[in-house]
Amino acid sequence: MPAVVVIGGQWGDEGKGRVVDFHSRYCSVVARYSAGHNAGHTIVNERGKFALHLVPAGIFYGNKTCIIGHGLVIDPKSLLAEVAMLSERGIDTSRLLVSERAHLVMPWHRIIDLADERLRGAAAIGTTGTGTGPAFHDKVGRIGIRMADLIDRARFRERLREVLEYKNRVLTGLYGEAPLDPDAIEREYAEFGERLRPYVADTIAVVQAAHARGEMILLEGAQGSLLDIDSGTYPYVTSSVPASVAAGGGIGIGIGPTAIARVIGVYKAFQTRVGHGPMPTELHDSDGETLREGGGGAPDTREYGTTTGRPRRTGWFDGVLARYTARLNGVTSVALTRLDTLSGFERVKVCVAYELDDQRVTTLPATLEAALRVKPIYEELPGWQHDITHVRALGDLPTEARQYVRRIEQIVEAPIDMISVGPERTQAIVTRDVFGAALT
Ligand code: IMP
Repeated sequence: MPAVVVIGGQWGDEGKGRVVDFHSRYCSVVARYSAGHNAGHTIVNERGKFALHLVPAGIFYGNKTCIIGHGLVIDPKSLLAEVAMLSERGIDTSRLLVSERAHLVMPWHRIIDLADERLRGAAAIGTTGTGTGPAFHDKVGRIGIRMADLIDRARFRERLREVLEYKNRVLTGLYGEAPLDPDAIEREYAEFGERLRPYVADTIAVVQAAHARGEMILLEGAQGSLLDIDSGTYPYVTSSVPASVAAGGGIGIGIGPTAIARVIGVYKAFQTRVGHGPMPTELHDSDGETLREGGGGAPDTREYGTTTGRPRRTGWFDGVLARYTARLNGVTSVALTRLDTLSGFERVKVCVAYELDDQRVTTLPATLEAALRVKPIYEELPGWQHDITHVRALGDLPTEARQYVRRIEQIVEAPIDMISVGPERTQAIVTRDVFGAALT
């Protein structure tokens, strides 16, 4: 049976967590394949509201093998805090597995993340400050420390000293920061290693065995395609290797691309972004403020970051970028989230092209200078005034809302199978079972 990838089609925060949560019921393995605790997924279920950063959203079912794959960088402290939070709230974490090949976020990564942002000055990326980017730099720079090192005290001591000798030179010489004490780090991390050991496994073998047995595997993307290092709005992107796009799924977990049968693209019904960088449809007016404060939608759905609490930048749905990411990921079906937020607008807008130097263009230019200059060309559609948070069938949506959904479907060239109209598990319109007979 196939693997299914869930990806974000925008700049992250599309609501992937609730989509993964919804589809997890059909799968025996739910796995994260990229990024680190810079990611934030909000899940609302019968046990309350949860913010997850590293643990896959399948954890709430209790009977799923939840894997943190080797494509991630892991801050042990952050992971342990998340596991403790889940346990305290009665969630069983005994089926959580962490790849022995995953890299660690170490104390110097956070220091370097913040120092790099200061040095970039006006060109700061607006990172989450979690050390994720520098941890990926070190992975690619082949000076990373991995989970397998952490759980072996002697190996960790040796690797830490080797790496820290180099890193302390960088910290003091390049950044003017104080050197870090290897003994203090070793003590702290030895304890992390002890506590994480029961979770650490050869997750490639686990995933491959599940695949060979014909079990369904759900790969949970983090962030959004527009933050991808290769295809995103560089340099205002995240550093994850493998990529934040669907093709990274197999790489970050250890299965081939032929195992991936479906790609579910999650798109918010409008656009948001945290951090800096181009955002052609960004609104600086009262409409933008209305979107940020949840519009006419469900209460408690304001647009503030799950990881950093930062207010998100908001704007109208960018169809140019949506089509780009749908094609980039090979999206086979779409989950459209937060449609409820758009209730109450007299007119809703969808960007269908850009104007650049008096020309109409339908792609975002690669250079930052040009990407910052494009002006959105909008198509206006009639809005709807009804509260739609109670709607559970497509036919019960106001005609205007259905029209909006159809237009987005045309733009992304894939069927919209799920529409969320509120944060609760039940607040969704499901028009087609993505995991239905045709798939299995
Ligand atoms: P970093 O991943 O912390 O290096 O941040 C790089 C960029 O990615 C910044 O613009 C962040 O705001 C953004 N970013 C990182 N993780 C997320 C996420 O989970 N949701 C939305 N944006 C994110």
